[in-house]
Amino acid sequence: MADTHATLSPTTPREVILAVLGALIAPAIVFFLIYQLVLKDRAETHLGVLTQAQESQMAESNIKPLAKLAVVDASAPRVLLTGEQVFNQVCTTCHTAGALGAPKFGDKAAWAPRIAKGYQTLIDHALHGFNKMPARGGDPNLQDIEVERAIAYMADAAGAKFKAPEPGTAPAAGAAPAANK
Ligand code: HEC
Repeated sequence: MADTHATLSPTTPREVILAVLGALIAPAIVFFLIYQLVLKDRAETHLGVLTQAQESQMAESNIKPLAKLAVVDASAPRVLLTGEQVFNQVCTTCHTAGALGAPKFGDKAAWAPRIAKGYQTLIDHALHGFNKMPARGGDPNLQDIEVERAIAYMADAAGAKFKAPEPGTAPAAGAAPAANK
């Protein structure tokens, strides 16, 4: 009997090279796929391919379902609304249609006797309530100055010449002194 080993063909250099290449290429392909799927975003940032803006945009889109990158300074003072803004947000509810007997916006006849009371009295009534007129128009978040501006906005549209206060000045600066409350 002949030696069986002798019947096996010897490994050729060509086969050795193919085997080595196969062993290297297969993991390389796997690595490439993983890189594409998972690491590409990060690799790009590390390579400096992405700008800062793109990077943060990417971060934001990644966390979008969970969080929002909104930085709000809670201690920052709220921007005061103008008289017109306060009117459109709050006072219009009653003062546009005249609900509950409210003097309508622009109705000179309805406003004249109220304007005659003086700015200070109207401020006092609007801040603290007057008959069916709720205090601050029902919005306790309004600051005094915002209510004062809204009164001037409404009254001036009906012929008054009230001067709405600016922030930092005394309340109702320039207003006529309260007369016949
Ligand atoms: C829920 C309805 C309502 C809302 C909202 C409202 N008002 Fe009035 N307001 C009234 C009514 C009703 C009167 C009339 C009260 C009366 O004369 O008996 C009135 C009267 C006034 C007067 C005249 C007071 C007086 O002494 O004659 C001023 C000033 C006034 N409102 C300002 C405001 C301002 C400023 C806002 C918004 C911040 C506002 N109102 C929101 C119902 C409302």
